[in-house]
Amino acid sequence: MTKGIKIVTIGGGSSYTPELVEGFIKRYESLPISELWLVDIPEGEEKLNIVGGLAKRMIQEAGLSIKVHLTLDRRKALKDADFVTTQFRVGLLEARAKDERIPLKYGVIGQETNGPGGLFKGLRTIPVILEIIKDMEELCPDAWLINFTNPAGMVTEAVLRYSNWKKVIGLCNVPVGMKMGIAEQLGVEADRVHIDFAGLNHMIYGLDIYLDGELFTDQYIDKLTSEDESSGTMQNIVDLKWQPEFIKALRAIPCPYHRYYYKTEEMFAEEMKAAETEGTRAEVVQKLEKDLFELYKDESLAIKPPQLEKRGGAYYSDAACNLIDSIYNDRKDIQPVNTINNGAIDSIPNESAVEINCVITKDGPKPIAIGDLPVATRGLVQQIKSFERVAAEAAVTGDYETALLAMTINPLVPSDTVAKAILDEMLEAHKAHLPQFG
Ligand code: G6P
Repeated sequence: MTKGIKIVTIGGGSSYTPELVEGFIKRYESLPISELWLVDIPEGEEKLNIVGGLAKRMIQEAGLSIKVHLTLDRRKALKDADFVTTQFRVGLLEARAKDERIPLKYGVIGQETNGPGGLFKGLRTIPVILEIIKDMEELCPDAWLINFTNPAGMVTEAVLRYSNWKKVIGLCNVPVGMKMGIAEQLGVEADRVHIDFAGLNHMIYGLDIYLDGELFTDQYIDKLTSEDESSGTMQNIVDLKWQPEFIKALRAIPCPYHRYYYKTEEMFAEEMKAAETEGTRAEVVQKLEKDLFELYKDESLAIKPPQLEKRGGAYYSDAACNLIDSIYNDRKDIQPVNTINNGAIDSIPNESAVEINCVITKDGPKPIAIGDLPVATRGLVQQIKSFERVAAEAAVTGDYETALLAMTINPLVPSDTVAKAILDEMLEAHKAHLPQFG
């Protein structure tokens, strides 16, 4: 008899965990998990117990024998793991709220993964992921690390550059969300739609669309740019419409996050309006989470509650569970993930992380080479890649000048002077979670 699979989820007390558990339950036949370890930190213990209780009830309700362990001891959990998924938030939602509010004072977008907020989320997260890898090297050297923690692209870049760990994959729900949205617009089942994805995390483009195997890009762009169509988005990003002529000229489908770059002023105005009324996204999510945890506490609840769909992470479990299933079963299907470029996109360094369609094998993702990105998209993608690299270096070294360089070269920051002002205020605000900056 083969041993069952051991999965470890770091940040297991997250409100998203029931998604993941639902995904594992659905795939149990092809993905025979015997142990699921949910790990958190002492500050997250209460949530871990609540969400862990629900996970256990969901598994019992499904009649499966997956053993769920809840622990604050990461090392104990990691021993002999097969897959480690990471979904933690250093500084919790309070830190995200600061990332979103402080830049607004300086007239700059405040966002979880873009601009100054993305930089600071990276500065807080990268040292922790590198610590987790040290534990993995010792305790589960053959495991796959599947990282969901944002900023997922920058984190993957940092792991590739600053550790010797090769079995890392960064994962995001944006591509699957785009595919589901396009299928819905076309009124067809999602498996009839194929998208050639390439770019970076939260900066990915659909370069071509196929319907039933036939090229459909131009027809889809005609539809997308017609008056009454949504431009496609997710719960956490306001659905501002693209200019039709812009999309026709681009002849590619931007992801929802591209609005921060191609509609900076309008998105800033939306953020200001929200900050003054219902609150920033983190503040809204704090309220949503409170309600979710109240639901999760209910002993009679044994399924993922539909209210979780108000979060931006829709299809998160499909992305994570399909990936693990394809590695485990050597499916050789195509999935968009963050992995080492290895020449798949000409204008990105070989050793950098890209988000691109890959063939998923038991030996990991094999990126499908595209040649190069269309010229109109290339510069922005390269600039973000430079930002991610410099930001990762700042996270590892704790060097002030490197952090200032990262902040200044971010396309959402207008000048070195503004960059310095934001940097100084954010370093102070987040100092409890940035020990490397002294
Ligand atoms: C999207 C992104 C995730 C992000 C999430 C935020 O799904 O792809 O990377 O974490 O939105 O959603 P939230 O509900 O926390 O605002």
